[in-house]
Amino acid sequence: MSKVTVVGAGNVGATCADVLAYREIAEEIVLIDIKEGIAEGKALDIFQKAPINQYDSRTVGSTNDYSKTANSDVVVITSGLPRKPGMTRDDLIETNAGIVKSVTENVVKHSPNAIIIVVSNPLDVMTYQAHLTSKFSRNKVIGMAGILDTARYRAFLAEELNVSPKEIQAILMGGHGDTMVPLPRYTTVAGIPVTELVAADKLDAIIERTKFGGGELVKLMGTSAWYAPGSAAAQMVEAILKNQRRVFPVCIKLEGEYGIDDCYLGVPVILGKNGVEKVLELDLNAEEKALLETSRGHVKEVMNVLDKLGK
Ligand code: NAI
Ligand code: 2OP
Repeated sequence: MSKVTVVGAGNVGATCADVLAYREIAEEIVLIDIKEGIAEGKALDIFQKAPINQYDSRTVGSTNDYSKTANSDVVVITSGLPRKPGMTRDDLIETNAGIVKSVTENVVKHSPNAIIIVVSNPLDVMTYQAHLTSKFSRNKVIGMAGILDTARYRAFLAEELNVSPKEIQAILMGGHGDTMVPLPRYTTVAGIPVTELVAADKLDAIIERTKFGGGELVKLMGTSAWYAPGSAAAQMVEAILKNQRRVFPVCIKLEGEYGIDDCYLGVPVILGKNGVEKVLELDLNAEEKALLETSRGHVKEVMNVLDKLGK
C-alpha cells in the first residue's frame, strides 16, 4: 500500500494532500501539523469530498503524532513560514531551518526508508537542512521548485502564444530565487524551438516575469502561492510512487555535475522509484554556465548562513 505524509497542513500542504487524494496518487495520505486540529480537519474535509469527486484514497490528519506517519514511502515537508510582502525567501531561513530540522528528525525516526521532498523556503537551503539531518543518500532528499518555476514560465508562454499550456516543454535550472536560470535554448512548443515563435524581447520579458513569479503572487495575495506549488509537489510524488522516470528540474546536492560540488541546486533529473535516478548534464553554453554560476554563488551564501547558525 502506498503511503505519503505531508508535513504542514497549511496552504501548500493541504493542496498537495488534496491533489494526491483526488488523483489517487497514494492510497493513504497523512497530513500532520503542530496547530491543534487543523490537519485532522483538513484531512476529514478532503475525505468528505471523495464521494463527490469519486476517489478511494484515504486522508488521515494528526496534530504532531508522528506514529501515524510510520512507514511512509514519501514525505513532503511544507512546514514553515511563507513569505509576506517585502520579504525574500532567504529571510525565512532561521525559523524554517529549526522547523525543517525537527520535522526531519521525526520523519527519519518513523519512516527510515522514505524519500523526502522539501518544499519549505528558502528551498535549496531547506533541502540542505533536511539532507544534513536525515543523513539519507542525496537521491532521496530532494527539493521542489523547478517544476513550479518551469510551470510559471510555460504558462506565460502559453498565454503569449495563445496555445495549450500542454504544448510548452521547458527546463529551468539553478536556485529557487531571482537567480534561477530559465533556458530558452531548451524550450519548445510541440517540438518547435520557442525562439522561432516568440520575439527575443518578449521572451526576455517572460523570463524576467518567471524569475519574480513567486513575488508577483505574494504582492497580490499577501502570502505565497499554493495551488501550483501543491500540485508540483504532488507531481513529484506521483513520479516516484509510479516509477514514471519523468524528467523534471529538481533540487539535489550536486557532486561534481556541471563542475559544481557540494551545493544544492535545481537541475534536470530522472525521477523514479529511488527518487533521483540520474542527474542529466546538459551541454550549457558560456552564457548559461555564467548564469548558473551566479545562482550557485547565491545559494552557497545562504548555505553558509545555515552553517553559521549551527543547525
Ligand atoms: P502556511 O503558513 O499556509 O502553512 C505552513 C504550515 O506549517 C502551518 O499550518 C503551520 O502550522 C505548519 N507548521 C509550522 N511549524 C510546524 C512544525 N514544526 N511541524 C508541523 N507543521 C508545522 O504556509 P504555506 O503557504 O503552506 O507555505 C509553506 C512553506 O512552503 C513556506 O516556507 C513557503 O515559503 C514554502 N513554499 C515553497 C514553494 C516552493 O516552490 N518550494 C512554493 C510555495 C511555498
Ligand atoms: C513561490 O515561488 C514563494 O517560493 C514560493 O511561490
